[in-house]
Amino acid sequence: MKNKKLPQYFYNPITLIGVSIASVSFGLILFLMMLDMLAKESKPYVGIIAFIILPVFLIIGLIIIAVGAFKERKRIKSGKFEERRLPVLDLNDTQKRRAVIIFSVGTIVLLMFSAFGSFKAYEYTETDEFCGTVCHTPMEPEFVAYQNSPHARVGCVNCHIGSGADWFVKSKITGAYQFYSVLFNKYSRPIPTPIENLRPAAGTCEQCHWPQNFFSEKKVEYNYFLSDENNTRSELTMLLKVGGGNSEFGNTSGIHWHMDIKNEIYYLALDRERNIIPYVKVRSLEDGKETIFRNRTIPFDEKDLDKHELRKSDCIDCHNRPAHIFNQPDKMVNEFMAEGVIDVNLPFIKSIAVGALEKPYSNKKIANDSIRILITEFYQNNYPEIYSTKKAEIEKAISYIQRIYDRNYFPSMLVSWRKYPNNIGHTYAVGCFRCHDGNMVSDEGKVVSNDCNICHTMISQTIDNVRQVSLDGLEFIHPSRKDIKQLCSDCHVKGGY
Ligand code: HEC
Ligand code: HEC
Ligand code: HEC
Ligand code: HEC
Ligand code: HEC
Ligand code: HEC
Repeated sequence: MKNKKLPQYFYNPITLIGVSIASVSFGLILFLMMLDMLAKESKPYVGIIAFIILPVFLIIGLIIIAVGAFKERKRIKSGKFEERRLPVLDLNDTQKRRAVIIFSVGTIVLLMFSAFGSFKAYEYTETDEFCGTVCHTPMEPEFVAYQNSPHARVGCVNCHIGSGADWFVKSKITGAYQFYSVLFNKYSRPIPTPIENLRPAAGTCEQCHWPQNFFSEKKVEYNYFLSDENNTRSELTMLLKVGGGNSEFGNTSGIHWHMDIKNEIYYLALDRERNIIPYVKVRSLEDGKETIFRNRTIPFDEKDLDKHELRKSDCIDCHNRPAHIFNQPDKMVNEFMAEGVIDVNLPFIKSIAVGALEKPYSNKKIANDSIRILITEFYQNNYPEIYSTKKAEIEKAISYIQRIYDRNYFPSMLVSWRKYPNNIGHTYAVGCFRCHDGNMVSDEGKVVSNDCNICHTMISQTIDNVRQVSLDGLEFIHPSRKDIKQLCSDCHVKGGY
């Protein structure tokens, strides 16, 4: 045995293969980490390759080294010892020399290409195209909704992963499972929401939106059409009190101040959807005082409190649909009617449009065909005169109703506004009224307010062509004159899939 630095049994072909696999992977990992450090923006997805895929090869390489060494040792022990040598390369032999040159240059070029290739591959995995379309069917609803959202230019990874190593490793572990579930068609339809391990908003939303800077009020206008023959119209304008504070002028009152800036809110939900909330704890950030609110209509034994984890409320508890908004049909039909693209003079158009949208269909093609048939036949059978004089208007209405369907319903994933309710508001989901239903009371008798004017001021309402205006706030008149004793969502969310 000449001057070998390692025990004899390391010098065998299997171990050598292991060594090369391990060192190539290690080199690539170093290369990617360097690229990541030099990149101007952080690239969340570099982690898939650098920290998950390559290390697998590194480990395989190490295992092969060990297996080779172990086998060789057994061979030596069993007495079959004969010194193994590395192949002798006689570089004076032209053939061998050529082979060596081709092999080494080839390897170097290949290595460079694969490094560049993995770089390109990880860049691709960062694009919205990758997130939104590679697993086409399961991601389609979110992708379509996203492309129509105020955040259409914010990459998926900015909200779903954020920057920093720990969250992308976490996301990649779930990502690997998701990949498997798509390959083997095991994903659930629809994808369950809320996402359980979504990164807290501090690492995502708050990188762009500054919680200390919310002020003023936001004016919103609504147009409503009832389901009667005349599509009776009413209008409502309100100021949403989105304020909360400003870094220069200090705190002001409003939705964001109370909820997010001056207080920490922890709550317990009994269901996966986080809709049934019996217990809320508010901690003031000024004096650390804690107030506990309990919902007197939801039975809950506080001895079980330890068994549950309190969720620290953040942006997502209200803004659960910043990028994937699946609209409720009344709302969309109202908007298109107000815009005039669905003709308000077509009798019952509001009612049949919403009815046609809400039927369960098995796929988009059937849905679009059925919408056309339902609406055409309705006018042919009930209003033949209007059908013949207003063909163009009916045709246009149909195309807009189909558009609403395409954008908001995804039968292949069983997705609609019911499956992904929007927690901003309280009409088509419990939303704010999960806590603000007037039943959340503290020991001191303080109630989480249900007053119609704490979150918005109704400044104008037009009903039966009578317009009322007041800057101090009007009392809301329900468009169909219902006497509302229940939660809005008790009546406004019903049936369907
Ligand atoms: C502005 C931030 C933001 C962006 C950008 C964004 N998402 Fe989301 N996404 C969310 C939030 C918030 C949720 C719901 C989380 C919850 O309720 O737990 C969500 C939920 C989801 C869900 C779970 C199903 C659901 O609808 O609740 C999927 C799947 C998803 N997003 C995919 C994507 C894809 C793909 C992209 C890019 C094409 C993307 N997201 C871009 C914020 C975002
Ligand atoms: C990469 C930056 C970025 C991130 C991250 C981001 N937003 Fe935004 N957000 C924006 C921009 C820019 C707008 C304004 C879009 C416009 O007006 O066209 C916006 C608009 C909004 C609006 C107003 C939407 C409207 O209808 O006018 C809300 C609410 C909002 N974001 C909430 C969130 C929440 C919640 C998150 C975290 C899940 C989030 N944003 C993450 C950049 C971001
Ligand atoms: C208590 C519920 C609640 C919480 C928590 C909350 N918001 Fe809001 N936010 C609202 C409501 C309600 C509106 C107005 C709804 C609308 O614009 O449709 C709003 C509006 C906004 C807007 C648009 C403001 C404007 O002037 O148009 C942005 C941006 C926003 N929120 C971001 C955030 C961010 C970021 C967080 C987390 C730091 C957050 N919100 C936490 C309820 C909340
Ligand atoms: C998880 C429970 C919870 C949810 C959901 C919730 N809130 Fe609140 N909200 C509270 C609590 C608790 C308080 C503080 C009550 C107190 O201290 O008097 C509060 C207070 C407020 C206040 C200040 C009230 C006042 O008296 O000045 C506003 C405004 C507000 N919330 C708006 C909203 C809006 C808008 C939504 C829905 C987008 C919402 N909240 C959803 C728990 C909740
Ligand atoms: C905790 C805050 C809060 C309270 C209390 C509250 N609202 Fe609202 N309301 C909202 C928010 C947020 C929206 C949604 C704004 C938007 O469309 O983005 C809303 C929307 C509405 C709308 C428009 C609904 C639509 O989708 O067309 C009406 C009408 C309304 N509220 C009536 C009331 C009445 C009546 C009360 C009193 C019983 C009340 N609200 C109490 C927060 C509140
Ligand atoms: C007792 C059941 C019930 C309750 C509670 C109720 N609504 Fe309604 N609401 C109705 C019915 C029924 C209609 C008429 C629907 C139609 O003609 O299309 C309606 C119509 C409306 C409309 C106009 C129709 C549209 O979308 O174009 C709005 C807006 C509305 N309700 C808001 C609310 C709000 C906000 C609350 C809670 C403060 C509420 N409703 C509570 C049953 C109810």
